[in-house]
Amino acid sequence: MAINAFDFVVKIDDLQQTKLVEKVYSDELSSNEVLLKIDKFSFTSNNITYGVVGDKMNYWKFFPTEYGFGIIPAWGLADVVISNHPDVQVGQRFYGYYPMSSHLLVTINYVSNNGFVDNSVHRQALPLIYNFYTNTNLDPTFTPKTENLISIFRPLFVTSFLIDYHLSEQNFYKSSQILITSASSKTAQALACLLARHKKKNAFNLIGLTSKKNVKFVRELGWYDQTISYDSVAELNYDEKSVVIDFAGNHNTQFQLQILLSENLVYNCLVGLVDWKNLKGESSLPKKGEFFFAPAHVAKCQKEWGVSGFQQRIGIAWQQFMDAIHSTISIKEYFGAQELQKLYSDMLNGDIDPNNSNIVYINKTRKRS
Ligand SMILES: NC(=O)c1ccc[n+]([C@@H]2O[C@H](COP(=O)([O-])OP(=O)(O)OC[C@H]3O[C@@H](n4cnc5c(N)ncnc54)[C@H](OP(=O)(O)O)[C@@H]3O)[C@@H](O)[C@H]2O)c1
Repeated sequence: MAINAFDFVVKIDDLQQTKLVEKVYSDELSSNEVLLKIDKFSFTSNNITYGVVGDKMNYWKFFPTEYGFGIIPAWGLADVVISNHPDVQVGQRFYGYYPMSSHLLVTINYVSNNGFVDNSVHRQALPLIYNFYTNTNLDPTFTPKTENLISIFRPLFVTSFLIDYHLSEQNFYKSSQILITSASSKTAQALACLLARHKKKNAFNLIGLTSKKNVKFVRELGWYDQTISYDSVAELNYDEKSVVIDFAGNHNTQFQLQILLSENLVYNCLVGLVDWKNLKGESSLPKKGEFFFAPAHVAKCQKEWGVSGFQQRIGIAWQQFMDAIHSTISIKEYFGAQELQKLYSDMLNGDIDPNNSNIVYINKTRKRS
């Protein structure tokens, strides 16, 4: 029996163009192949950034498609529908890095106590953290309630955890203020929550920079001592030694911060590129920042604490973050490829309500009320 499937693909040199590519899987899989039907995945600006830097950072290589097009990866959950691997059963559910598609075909060598690695040839040279799939039936942290929160926040939280640890190791660069751009983003929120724990002892202020429309939202989060909109950057106290953590990537904001803070900018950490249409500007930047490459920091932490020690520390910090924010999270659900297309287009063009956390059920259709 043939299984009809589809991929949601974007044009690599013009992210505004998207289309569905239909395909068919045979139910006769080769040895060690497993077909997963994707249930749901999260969608935040991080996924747009995967597309923006898809070539440079190899994101298009995870799920290859037609020439000139790419499939944006997303964190989510899928169920096994056909298995030709002795240790994987139909009905098992796995969390991991999926294509924005109806299905994913994987090739598995070895199944461990907690999951498997996709050993498909095209993925073998890519970082392991993206190729590992967690068996949610064997992991008590996954419940119907936590699945969405883990898909949306967990991958972002890990980066925030690593930045927080890096800053604390560096004694916060002896700064008296830490400025975070795109302060409304989920990764920034997680970082601000983590940094808030060190504020008293290390005597720094946390300042959130955001767009005018999001100032109220950021202020009400309660993590930041001060919230400033991008067009009021000149109001900053630039006589203070400062760290900048940049999630926006906006050229003009970088330029202004570098000029105003000058020698007082003691660490300029480049993490995100949400404002992807404004990454370039007329004036060249006086200083280069330091790109934050999360996998390198993961490797360092795992060397220091061991793999399980690293997981344990993240687990504790994650629980504290969830306890702090879970009552404020508003999950917005999307159904099917058409709704995904609209969400993608809105997100790409910055039409985003930071109050919402998006989950896409790619194989379902919206129930009519
Ligand atoms: N290097 C790493 O390892 C790593 C890991 C995790 C995340 N990141 C990056 O961190 C960034 C934040 O990701 P996220 O998923 O946390 O974002 P998110 O929660 O979806 O962020 C939404 C916010 O980003 C800003 N924004 C989004 N799209 C925009 C657009 N088209 N134009 C201008 N502003 C826009 C707005 O914030 P404001 O109004 O406040 O500016 C918006 O409220 C992404 O670039 C992501 O790739 C990097």
